[in-house]
Amino acid sequence: MPARILVFPGSNRTGSFNAKLAAAVSVELANQGADVTRISLADYPLPLVDEDLKAENGIPDNAMRLGRVIAAHDGVFMCCPEYNSSIPPLLKNTIDWVSLISRDGDRPFKPWADRFVALGSASDGKFAGIRGLYHVRSVMMNVGAQVISEQCSVSFGESAFDADGRIIDPVTTARLKKACRSLIEFCAVMSRR
Ligand SMILES: Cc1cc2nc3c(=O)[nH]c(=O)nc-3n(C[C@H](O)[C@H](O)[C@H](O)COP(=O)(O)O)c2cc1C
Repeated sequence: MPARILVFPGSNRTGSFNAKLAAAVSVELANQGADVTRISLADYPLPLVDEDLKAENGIPDNAMRLGRVIAAHDGVFMCCPEYNSSIPPLLKNTIDWVSLISRDGDRPFKPWADRFVALGSASDGKFAGIRGLYHVRSVMMNVGAQVISEQCSVSFGESAFDADGRIIDPVTTARLKKACRSLIEFCAVMSRR
């Protein structure tokens, strides 16, 4: 069975470089044989994490919906903007809400637990969002995901993609292929467990 991999950008911005990276990642994963689902967090709007809100209303429907989508995949490839050298609020808020899920009906349910996760980033600057990935990696490990070492960061996002959405720089393209290959291999290990 092909590895089932969920891909999403941590940005809903019009023209987002991370959305472009997520599209390129999806093509590469599919070329390498994965069964790919690409989503937008715009389809899962969430309030700011608030424990009082959770106590009153429970987990928001969109967080549960997203949690179920995550759990239906072997791995996740997240394309992460960098805000002030760290994780942007949309992404952190989304990860946090999903981390608060502990049950689905009467069964225990932790969508992030043991999920293989690969990280990518894209930015308009030279450093390509790589500093933010240290923080995303740390947060994802804290929620129980297995974050793989290989990652791919795209600098100067405005000129990084060709008209067909491919990454122009060959070194970055090689990193992307390697990260996709590694994620698929880890997912294959998981499906044998
Ligand atoms: C509040 C804020 C802080 C930012 N800080 C950084 C930063 O530390 N490093 C960086 O490379 N880009 C930074 N940027 C610029 C983003 O990389 C740029 O907006 C990028 O396009 C965001 O990703 P997106 O295109 O996927 O939306 C920042 C942008 C915002 C709004």
